[in-house]
Amino acid sequence: MKIFLDTANIDEIRVAAETGILDGVTTNPSLIAKEGKAFEDVINEICSLVDGPISAEVVSTDAAGMIAEARHLAGIHENVVVKVPLTRDGIQAVSVVSQEGINTNVTLCFSPLQALMAAKAGASMISPFAGRLEDIGHDGMELCAQIVEIYENYGYTTEVLVASIRSPKHVLDAALMGADIVTIPTKVFDAMFKHPLTDKGLAAFLADWDNAGDAITGGSAKAAAVEEAVPAGAAD
Ligand code: E4P
Repeated sequence: MKIFLDTANIDEIRVAAETGILDGVTTNPSLIAKEGKAFEDVINEICSLVDGPISAEVVSTDAAGMIAEARHLAGIHENVVVKVPLTRDGIQAVSVVSQEGINTNVTLCFSPLQALMAAKAGASMISPFAGRLEDIGHDGMELCAQIVEIYENYGYTTEVLVASIRSPKHVLDAALMGADIVTIPTKVFDAMFKHPLTDKGLAAFLADWDNAGDAITGGSAKAAAVEEAVPAGAAD
């Protein structure tokens, strides 16, 4: 499963990319606005940090405007995926630009039939917003599972990109259902690394190593170096 970061914050993207497991980035107009920098500069900078699909969203609402924007955005960098809202005009625009080889991410998807239409239009990715559905008491992950099933039924190549992720559990559910991609906020990305038993186990291993004596460790400086990283008593 591919992991995208759902942010336009360059510092967050740089740190996440250092892990070597980041496959792409999604932005939207709200995330771009939060950064207070020129849209195209932000997209260019993200493209220089992450070698994978980078979603940049159109802001026109009519098909002709979306098509013009899509052509322009696709010209910024070969990795740009043009994000188009799931409206009637959006689907029309995707039908046109997908024929031109422009990669698209159809966003703001809240129903399986919307996703079916996006696939028929030739979208590269569909973004069901799981969290926003759950915010109003619906089952967001059920929607994602239905889309995965529909696409499998007919062999659509449109990738299912689970979006509006609120917790690591959403990421787990997406992986279990076979979704192609998740796009996650930095807070959730960071949380996925953490497990108290990993911290406790590592502290215990290092404490044992530290206490083993030079005959076993060969005087390795490792223990001293790690003592700094894992404070004494962390194993308790
Ligand atoms: C997806 O591409 C969107 O940017 C995003 O996942 C929206 O998430 P939100 O509901 O947390 O704003």
